[in-house]
Amino acid sequence: MLADKDRIFTNVYGFQPWNLDAAIKRGDWDDTKGLMARGQDALIDAVKASGLRGRGGAGFPTGTKWSFMPKEPKADRPNFLVINADESEPGSCKDREIIRHDPHKLIEGALIAGFAMRARAAYIYIRGEYIREAEVLFAAIAEAYDKGLIGKNACGSGYDFDVFCHRGAGAYICGEETAMLESLEGKKGQPRLKPPFPAGAGLYGCPTTVNNVESIAVVPTILRRSPEWFASFGAENNRGTKLFQISGHVNKPCVVEEAMSITFRELIETHCGGIRGGWDNLLAVIPGGSSVPLVPAAEIMDCPMDFDGLKKVGSGLGTAAIIVMDKSTDIVRAISRLSYFYKHESCGQCTPCREGTGWMWRVMERMRTGDADISEIDTLYQVTKQVEGHTICALGDAAAWPIQGLIKHFRPEMERRITEKRGGGLSPMMEAAE
Ligand code: NAI
Ligand code: SF4
Repeated sequence: MLADKDRIFTNVYGFQPWNLDAAIKRGDWDDTKGLMARGQDALIDAVKASGLRGRGGAGFPTGTKWSFMPKEPKADRPNFLVINADESEPGSCKDREIIRHDPHKLIEGALIAGFAMRARAAYIYIRGEYIREAEVLFAAIAEAYDKGLIGKNACGSGYDFDVFCHRGAGAYICGEETAMLESLEGKKGQPRLKPPFPAGAGLYGCPTTVNNVESIAVVPTILRRSPEWFASFGAENNRGTKLFQISGHVNKPCVVEEAMSITFRELIETHCGGIRGGWDNLLAVIPGGSSVPLVPAAEIMDCPMDFDGLKKVGSGLGTAAIIVMDKSTDIVRAISRLSYFYKHESCGQCTPCREGTGWMWRVMERMRTGDADISEIDTLYQVTKQVEGHTICALGDAAAWPIQGLIKHFRPEMERRITEKRGGGLSPMMEAAE
């Protein structure tokens, strides 16, 4: 179990106020000028050495991403930092806790990251539904401006840096980084083709890095405590501490900071009081937010909760939003509900996603009620394969993977409900074939 002294988010439960005075007492904004004085390249090297990988879901190495930014930005083409606070992945609720209770970690991180990347300003794009969180963030930014921590000559460093907060309007797709840039520019939030990646052409066509809230908020602590300290947690290639969000059928759902690579069993036993009804009652887990395939009970129990460990069981860490399902769950219905979500949130720009998400959901609904034909399970699987990898953004993959996971692990259950609905008889399609 991670010792209290090694927690970065010491106010994640809001036992203390979020405001600047309390944040300073917790160690935030402590000699930020001194951190910046280490120099931009040294800061990027330190983040690389820490092994920090993006906390928004994809796990791209943060320091490497920063190093893609131009070192000599042109006056008419400044560098920008965009912070993704459009947390909308079903099951994900960690960035919300950071903004609610520790907003100064994010603002200080924005300054340091922005400085390291020679950015002119940071835009924090916050999910529209996070109304109270946005209020806290606006107030915290105002506090930081008042004290000269950001703005002109930020922290007395001689560096000018602005932080803006922009509220979204409730579209999941605006969390996709290029859709977010479109939305910030005042356009319809639809993903762009990549490449070019944002570091080449991002906000207003300028070099831009898009980072998740947690990725930015951990940076000041990593620099103060050392990259080696951060890298001492977790397994090779999966370093650091991480906010896990555990929901569903555990005795005590929670958001908790733990060392990467902790096993599922230890995480649940230590922080969630175990599985509702005991470990024998566990059915399956979606370990990384709804965009990753589910993992059946037997395979998840001793799995390290990190990028590589979950990849080995055919899933992913994603945002580390762990959705636990016990044996009372109607698993086909649960996945069908997710299919509806992706159909609803598809931006409609590319055909495989626009048509495929609606088609998959409609078939999933017939699977749920048992009105499908058994042969359609294979057709459904083939369609998920046609959607996967053939769309502009990852939403197509995200819609396909949960269904693939269901078919891989729960095919007998899908067949059972179809057969039972027919009283064991053949389907009309099979009868015709006979
Ligand atoms: P991605 O793998 O395409 O990109 C990850 C990051 O690395 C991006 O910032 C991208 O610009 C950068 N990158 C990748 N290859 C690059 C290259 N060759 N050169 C320069 N930069 C490069 O993944 P994406 O589509 O950004 O994110 C997908 C993930 O987002 C999913 O795995 C899912 O878990 C997560 N997600 C999180 C949500 C949330 O609420 N936090 C919501 C929905 C999805
Ligand atoms: Fe839009 Fe879906 Fe295509 Fe992404 S995959 S661009 S959400 S239609």
